[in-house]
Amino acid sequence: MSQFDGPNVIFEARGISKHYGGVVALEGVDLELRQGEVLAIVGDNGAGKSTLIKALTGAIAKTSGTTHMDGQEVQIDSPAAAKDAGIETVYQDLALVNELSITKNVFLGREILRKDLLGRVFGALDFAKMDREIRDLFQKLDIRIADIYREAEAFSGGQRQAVALSKTVMFGKRIAILDEPTAALGVRESKMAMDLVSSLKDHGLSVIMITHNMQHVLQYCDRVMVLRLGQLAAVRDVKDVDGDTLVGLITGAIEDRAA
Ligand SMILES: Nc1ncnc2c1ncn2[C@@H]1O[C@H](COP(=O)(O)OP(=O)(O)OP(=O)(O)O)[C@@H](O)[C@H]1O
Ligand SMILES: [Mg+2]
Repeated sequence: MSQFDGPNVIFEARGISKHYGGVVALEGVDLELRQGEVLAIVGDNGAGKSTLIKALTGAIAKTSGTTHMDGQEVQIDSPAAAKDAGIETVYQDLALVNELSITKNVFLGREILRKDLLGRVFGALDFAKMDREIRDLFQKLDIRIADIYREAEAFSGGQRQAVALSKTVMFGKRIAILDEPTAALGVRESKMAMDLVSSLKDHGLSVIMITHNMQHVLQYCDRVMVLRLGQLAAVRDVKDVDGDTLVGLITGAIEDRAA
């Protein structure tokens, strides 16, 4: 059986390692993402979760390992290469630029230019078109933000996260990678963000999500991979685990038979 057989694997990573000098942040981690699933990555502080997604998305150079899209090896050695491969990453802290409006944030680096009657681009930004597309998008995703002209810093953490997540749909990405999307949010806003994650899935995206919230894993994710001390400790279907088992796998109190 080829390593790419299996249920609609769209993205795969093999043997991902990251060493910082003598510090082994990650060692030989494999990851498989299936079409239309939400894959949780869990693990204790320092387990290597953020390092893994940074290594997968070209934000840091990996020490070794390969990545594959649809069974073909792809070199993802920069954030731009990740975007080209159809991967959008949302980091909690860097989600939005405070000083910019919602429109400018969503279209940052991908601005729509105005065209004259002959369809020639003439440099000016087409804010009317961008605003329209954002309103359509927010409606489609049920994001309730009326005033898209205000600067991002005026919005709550949940709204900011919603805007950041919406970018993954706006630009036709296939994979959204989220590093602790609810870490800075209250209960109500967390639910809003997680419902939006489900809605990304409904729009055909596959999602990788780092979280410390076991309830979110159980309620919103399809599969879960557990990292411990930089290594893959277990991969499970969420329907086959409960919260206690997950915590046991995270701390090492439970050793995975299959790993
Ligand atoms: N730039 C760096 N230089 C040296 N070591 C690093 C660097 N970045 C991360 N590490 C180490 O790599 C390991 C994994 O860190 P990482 O940030 O991936 O953990 P994490 O699982 O995301 O933790 P958390 O849940 O706290 O976010 C840690 O031991 C960390 O100290
Ligand atoms: Mg982290």
